Amino acid sequence: MARSGSARDSRGPGAMTGPATALVGRRESFNAAHQLRDPGLSDEENRRRFGKCVNLHGHNYVLEVVVAGEIDRASGYVMDLKQLSDVIGRQVIQDVDHRNLNTDVPWLCGCIPTAENLALRIWERLRAELPDGLLRSVRVWETDKNWAEVGGHAG
Ligand code: NI
Repeated sequence: MARSGSARDSRGPGAMTGPATALVGRRESFNAAHQLRDPGLSDEENRRRFGKCVNLHGHNYVLEVVVAGEIDRASGYVMDLKQLSDVIGRQVIQDVDHRNLNTDVPWLCGCIPTAENLALRIWERLRAELPDGLLRSVRVWETDKNWAEVGGHAG
């Protein structure tokens, strides 16, 4: 994406930084079970690494997806959030809701389903379905206190 960057020119203040970027986001939720367990480790080693998280348990996950871009003059949107919600539903929620993340989700196969790995895999699935450069961040809340995020930097 071509940007005018910090080059000073005679076109006025707007030309110094290019069009403003706006962020918009969508929050979705799902319930799922998981256990933190590396199949290459013994039960004792897993328990030492992951503590009680080695046991199968559930979370009420919250997923926050942020997209960033210029505001379209005609629609006033960066992106229609109903469309974003549809993509999240199709690419993520329908696969993970009321599932066991260790065994039931093909695109989580081979990874330990931590919040970090969930955010990474969800980022990859959403980025593939959204226009180039639009996706800014994917944050997965596992509890009220714990979250993990992928992306988040200015594009
Ligand atoms: Ni957990």
